[in-house]
Amino acid sequence: MTRHIVSVIGGKDAPSTTTYTSTNPAKLTEIVAQVGMADAATFAAACRTAKEAQREWARVPAPVRGRVVANIGRLVEANAEALARLVSQEIGKPYAEALGEVREIVDTCDFFLGEGRRLYGQTVPSEMPDKNLFTFRNPVGVATVITAGNFPVAVPSWYLVPALVSGNAVVWKPAEYSAASAHALYLLFVKAGLPEGVLNVVFADGKETFEGLEQALTEGTVDKIGFTGSSEVGRRIGELAGRHLQSPCLELGGKNPMVIMPDADLDLAVEGALFSGFGTAGQRCTSLGTLIVHEEVHEEFTERFARAVQNAKIGDPATDVLAGPLLDRKFAERYEEFLTWIQPHHTVISGPTGRITEQNPRHEFTGEGGLFYHPVVVDGVRPDDELFLEETFGPIVGVTTFTTLDEAIELANRPGYGLSSSIYTTSPQSAFRFREGISAGMVSVNNSTSGAEAHLPFGGNGKSGNGSRQSGIWVLDQFTRWQAMNWDHSGRLQKAQMDVVDITPDQDFRL
Ligand code: UN1
Repeated sequence: MTRHIVSVIGGKDAPSTTTYTSTNPAKLTEIVAQVGMADAATFAAACRTAKEAQREWARVPAPVRGRVVANIGRLVEANAEALARLVSQEIGKPYAEALGEVREIVDTCDFFLGEGRRLYGQTVPSEMPDKNLFTFRNPVGVATVITAGNFPVAVPSWYLVPALVSGNAVVWKPAEYSAASAHALYLLFVKAGLPEGVLNVVFADGKETFEGLEQALTEGTVDKIGFTGSSEVGRRIGELAGRHLQSPCLELGGKNPMVIMPDADLDLAVEGALFSGFGTAGQRCTSLGTLIVHEEVHEEFTERFARAVQNAKIGDPATDVLAGPLLDRKFAERYEEFLTWIQPHHTVISGPTGRITEQNPRHEFTGEGGLFYHPVVVDGVRPDDELFLEETFGPIVGVTTFTTLDEAIELANRPGYGLSSSIYTTSPQSAFRFREGISAGMVSVNNSTSGAEAHLPFGGNGKSGNGSRQSGIWVLDQFTRWQAMNWDHSGRLQKAQMDVVDITPDQDFRL
């Protein structure tokens, strides 16, 4: 039986104008859900509903809101297998990875349930007697959260959980191609005890969302925008938010470099590069973009890496594979464009390229009607190539060489993104020099570019974001605003900077 889902606003099904069909990318004939798509007016209505509900929610004591977060974590854990199966079916992520993704929601809840009992403010000394100073964290109000489908449940939880525990209401607009997974997560959140209207889910395309958001910003019913997606759309969201004097939380693309030093453990580096480049079929924002390999080890490393990639299993995401299909048709089409960036001066060292079909099989695997693609490694990439400079979301990795660490760092920073990065070395000096020089928000040493833990700051610089950070304590600054309070109980007007006791030092004193 086909699943039919629609937007839910204030606990009620909301109207839709068109229908989107979410399919299984591993088996395109299989429909996962029919999704009713809302228009801009419905999006704006959701923000009004959220604004209403937020007032009451902010009055719920923070420790009680923390209890709701605890319930969400428990409910997600109890439904982990079902949710992971749905994620795997809808976006083609291997089941083991999907289960890891669900685990990340539980980790996020585990971290933030205690925040309900902290959300610390400060008591601060005053310049004057009989006066007290305090700081408070206030919720921002309504957060609209727009998320991608490569992490259809974990990354949304990075926004939803801290936003909710801090006393905000949320309008969540998930990617349409992962709508069924999003709807399932929405249900787990509300069944955990969220009052109606505190979390609303709206399915809408990019155009309607943008218009709805613009309307809501004009009406004053949105106080914070969280966005995970491409740098191109992030720029537009940033412009829109800026016109309304808001700073959004932007988590955008990456062209994540991995530097292989001559002293690296090459077996470890090959394993790391394989997972970084081709885990999740290269569709993480933290996936490896370019391998920057020291010329002394280039030949040996590329030979071993090419072998590992050739042997890697691509196939049914329900089985033990390195990667399943691409997320959705539009990603497959875009990926095919990236393949045209391969130039005559490049060498493909991984074997066949393109879609896996009966005519272009991978070992015995013929693609079976899914969006399966060969993983591609392109050697000889130069610093001015499109392949070097632009994000290539999908299973393609470039290789270039260097002679000094300074040159490697320059190459690593050159594309102007700055999300994740990695260095393989056995030298602490090289590791720390790389950390200091790299513009990325995240640095791995002897580890994959992907796989950040849920309680460290996650985010990027340059084309990867506007410096905002998600996860851990750092995200609280996105969903709360500091309020300063002073309370004078002296019974007179004490003027700051003026009515302050003067202490006169003897500046001429010498020993
Ligand atoms: C993303 O691709 O948007 O660090 C997030 C990682 C994951 C999250 C990726 N924990 O690879």
